[in-house]
Amino acid sequence: MSDTHKSRKRSRFSDAKKSSPKYLEEDKYDTGKKRDAKRTSKDNSEGSAMDETPVAVVTNETNFGDFPEIGATTIKNLNARGITKLFPVQEATFRAIYEGNDMIARDLTGSGKTLAFSLPLVEKFRKMGYYEPENRVGGRRKLLSIILAPTRELALQVSKELKALKSYDSEYKVITVYGGVSIDDQTRELRSGVEFFVGTTGRVLDHIKRGNIDFRDIKTICLDEADQMLNMGFKEDVEEIMRSIQQDAKEKTQFLLFSATVPSWVKEVSRKFLTQDYKFIDLVKDLKNKTSKTVQHLAINCPFFNRTATLADILLCYGGLHGKTIVFAQTKNDANSVLLADKVKLDVEVLHGDIAQNQREVTLQRFRDGKFNVLVATDVASRGLDIPNVDLVIQLEPPKDVETYIHRSGRTARAGTSGTCITFFNRKQQGLINIIESKAGIKLKKIGAPQPTDIIKASANEAIKGFEKVDDSVTHLFEETAQKLIEEKGAMKAVSLALAYISGTTEKLKKRSLLTGQENFVTYTVQTTMEFKGVSYVWSILRRLLPQDIVDGIRGMRIYNDKKGVVFDVPEEHADRVDDLYNNEKESRRMMSYSLEVAKELPELFEQDGGFGGGFGGGRGGFGGRSGGFGGGRGGFGGRSGGFGGDRRGDRSGGYGGSSGGYGGNRGYGGNGGDYNAGSGYGKSSGGYGGSGGYSGGRSGGYSGGGRDSYRKDRY
Ligand SMILES: Nc1ncnc2c1ncn2[C@@H]1O[C@H](COP(=O)(O)OP(=O)(O)OP(=O)(O)O)[C@@H](O)[C@H]1O
Ligand SMILES: [Mg+2]
Repeated sequence: MSDTHKSRKRSRFSDAKKSSPKYLEEDKYDTGKKRDAKRTSKDNSEGSAMDETPVAVVTNETNFGDFPEIGATTIKNLNARGITKLFPVQEATFRAIYEGNDMIARDLTGSGKTLAFSLPLVEKFRKMGYYEPENRVGGRRKLLSIILAPTRELALQVSKELKALKSYDSEYKVITVYGGVSIDDQTRELRSGVEFFVGTTGRVLDHIKRGNIDFRDIKTICLDEADQMLNMGFKEDVEEIMRSIQQDAKEKTQFLLFSATVPSWVKEVSRKFLTQDYKFIDLVKDLKNKTSKTVQHLAINCPFFNRTATLADILLCYGGLHGKTIVFAQTKNDANSVLLADKVKLDVEVLHGDIAQNQREVTLQRFRDGKFNVLVATDVASRGLDIPNVDLVIQLEPPKDVETYIHRSGRTARAGTSGTCITFFNRKQQGLINIIESKAGIKLKKIGAPQPTDIIKASANEAIKGFEKVDDSVTHLFEETAQKLIEEKGAMKAVSLALAYISGTTEKLKKRSLLTGQENFVTYTVQTTMEFKGVSYVWSILRRLLPQDIVDGIRGMRIYNDKKGVVFDVPEEHADRVDDLYNNEKESRRMMSYSLEVAKELPELFEQDGGFGGGFGGGRGGFGGRSGGFGGGRGGFGGRSGGFGGDRRGDRSGGYGGSSGGYGGNRGYGGNGGDYNAGSGYGKSSGGYGGSGGYSGGRSGGYSGGGRDSYRKDRY
């Protein structure tokens, strides 16, 4: 996976013209005429006095020439920040916002939506002379725009963008209000007047109730992360704020909604605030992949109990050596437990709702500044945050909805840079992965947990990095011992010993499953020369080759995508015997129709979708198939839309299945019933492991087979 952290590259953003949405070419805003890139002083005369400075860099590389509304000083400012052309969403929305239209806009994460709504507002108000002292009442600035965001961090980010667009420091004022800090300072500032008001809803409402805000002159209200703002938890507050604005505002306010995700219900909910002819600028609709294009999506099958260990290894192997990593935890407790885990050796800090506001800001700033490289956060950090050099996002479990996946994975690979998102899942969560894949239009490449050898390499590299800290003046103190060691052991052995000791690798390495990351298991692969129809073929090979106790211990068999091989786990204690038996077999035969070896990496595996040929379980097992099967005896049954256990709740006698038949499902791993934990469906010797794709044969039963040797006992 060394190529997961690819060098930074620009994609569609580097050629906004080429990738501009089609409608732009036909849109009424595009006159088809290329405006003169070098604007005359007459062009600028409509803007504020500040616009009279010479036009900043406008070359063929830019599209600023298409927007004479944007003042020269602004262009110069943007250029100074490395913004030399408008991104597609900025190009697509600029004029409609500038002209006062209501709008819902959707573009991918990291596509520049903040500037897309900030720039036209700032420029328009400037052009209208709203920032001029004459526009103030008794020296008090008039509130022109309110921008609501779901988190304090995001509100601060939006404010920063607005402030960066100022022509000079006192041109206009931006206030950021959020809870967790004193309301009095905010009140004072508000009362002295501000043009832009950015905030989170709770605190905004507080100010409204205290009569601190005068909405009479307000022109625009914008919801960043609009779908979240109109969803449970925020909706009532937003509606109350909207009502308050509508009551007080002298004219109809422009309503702007921006997000990387706009589920269809958003239109319904926001309809009452939008004019009928509002613009829906959707740059995602026609894209198959709804996530940032430059994210590489990976997934690791990792049982719950093994998460922290696997995370520690991934951070060590991939996180610490590169840029920054954000780890998403489902709950505050989960986030804290990463922080406390001994295995996680890198510097880690947490961000979630229980952390005091000022500490949250400090933590984020330290993360931005690279003071530490791993931030463990809840979904408080999943939306909008724009932190440079985050090139790895890890999700400790798949999120429950595709929107969250899109936003979380979008914390990396922003503005055309590349990044990687690794999602941990356990068998129960395979269904969630499938749903995310189909709704987001992506494929999560399944990879194995880092192997001991990867970890050794990474920790040796970490150790070498530490060498930089050693002052030259102390090294000679070690030379005598070093010389002796080299004479005794040889240079290579001496240095290797030192590295092993420094990196804490002093004991024999435990084997680790490539399939689940579980220690003391070895993942084997059997490859056949020909495509086979079902895993029964492989089982028959294994039964011929191996004694009963080893076959019984085989776990988690999965088929290759090309159906010419399988991978499965064998307890480490059996590994030597497996190797010997196979080598003997190979020596005694002239031709082998298969090979068996320890897997070095995970191949593309067949996604079990409805059973590979439809399987069945024997004995007490169950069976599954594409359209559902049913469990025999105490087994369960699986079906495409989720299986259910023997007695619906999947109690002790319940099995589970799903669309893959027998072994879990495409949707609903275990479906309504077949409670994964409570159920006994993961039979051990009496139920068999089932194997992949519905073949739940096993020794005497299916994966969903019953038996009291439950899944829990197998610890998978
Ligand atoms: N025209 C541009 N040229 C270069 N960089 C830009 C341009 N516009 C925005 N950026 C940069 O792109 C990054 C992402 O922008 P922004 O945070 O606005 O994305 P977003 O679309 O709001 O993403 P999200 O959906 O995650 O909130 C920021 O660092 C911003 O400064
Ligand atoms: Mg944003």
